[in-house]
Amino acid sequence: MNAHTETRHGAAVNETTQKASETTLLDPRFYTTDFDELDRIDVTPIREEWDKLIAELRSDPNKTHFKKTADWDPVDWEGMEPELKKELVDFLVSSLTAEFSGCVLYKEMKRRGNNPDICELFNYMARDEARHAGFINDALREADIGVNLGFLTKAKKYTYFRPKFIYYATYLSEKIGYARYITIYRHLEKHPEHRIHPIFKWFEQWCNDEFRHGEAFALLMKTDPKLTESPINKLWIRFFLVAVFSVMHVRDHARPAFHNALGINVDEYDQEVFRKTSEIARQVFPIEIDIDNPRWQRGLDRLRVAMGDMDRAKRQGGIGGAVARFTAGARSGLAFLSLYTIPVKKNVVPANPRLEPAY
Ligand SMILES: [Fe+2]
Ligand SMILES: [Fe+2]
Repeated sequence: MNAHTETRHGAAVNETTQKASETTLLDPRFYTTDFDELDRIDVTPIREEWDKLIAELRSDPNKTHFKKTADWDPVDWEGMEPELKKELVDFLVSSLTAEFSGCVLYKEMKRRGNNPDICELFNYMARDEARHAGFINDALREADIGVNLGFLTKAKKYTYFRPKFIYYATYLSEKIGYARYITIYRHLEKHPEHRIHPIFKWFEQWCNDEFRHGEAFALLMKTDPKLTESPINKLWIRFFLVAVFSVMHVRDHARPAFHNALGINVDEYDQEVFRKTSEIARQVFPIEIDIDNPRWQRGLDRLRVAMGDMDRAKRQGGIGGAVARFTAGARSGLAFLSLYTIPVKKNVVPANPRLEPAY
């Protein structure tokens, strides 16, 4: 597990760091954006709600939360069934990368900005994400497979998104992060015998941070009604909803042993997370995906199978592999299109978007 690999940057890093540095279609990404445009946001139209949220972030409710206590039961990494161990590590590394991705983006915004409102917000959010990433890394270090975050910052590819795409993608990833963490937490509250790692005990307060971060992006989107109301942006919102949901579906299905050990049925869990996220997103998005339409589950299944075939074809290589990859790629595209064209449900968005965590 702790074998070190020579990378293209010449540094010797361990396998988990190497894994976290990769950016395939499904891995959590690092983002960069037009920071000057973001810096020009004027929060005056939502000042009252903004100040309340900033006050909450400033009060730092989770200041002492991310510390190991007596509740942190020892983990038997050595005695763990190898497939479960592999998938648990994969879950932790993928979560760590997602947390750290937020940290890097928010910190950069704080560093480049001059707008005091924006800088203060991103400063607090970077603080939270650094804690989250650090806490997961502590868990990995116990198994001697901690990720080298400094290396990751330099080696990982950054994807450029214009600010509005950052709002849609990051808003959704914060809210879906909340929904995922709270759903797992509530499930394990009822079935503690399935708690395969102590980190899940920390998820309840943890996910409230993610909830607040999502609130911040909801407010940022509220500063300019065009962002959520113009016909073209509605199509973009729809695109991001389908993309974020379907990536989650494919990624979760790649960890059967992990979900089995947690006593979680992946399809039910994913639908539950989509449902919570959709309900929350009514605060700001005028449309939502109809996840109860029979085409939804069918499309997700088709997409997952096609992407699995694409992955196998890639490993196969050669002409045969290239052809198989092309046809599987086309099938993935069609499956995505069929998900995208499911008629959406319309919402009347409230004037004041603010919500409290309710699950
Ligand atoms: Fe986080
Ligand atoms: Fe977050």
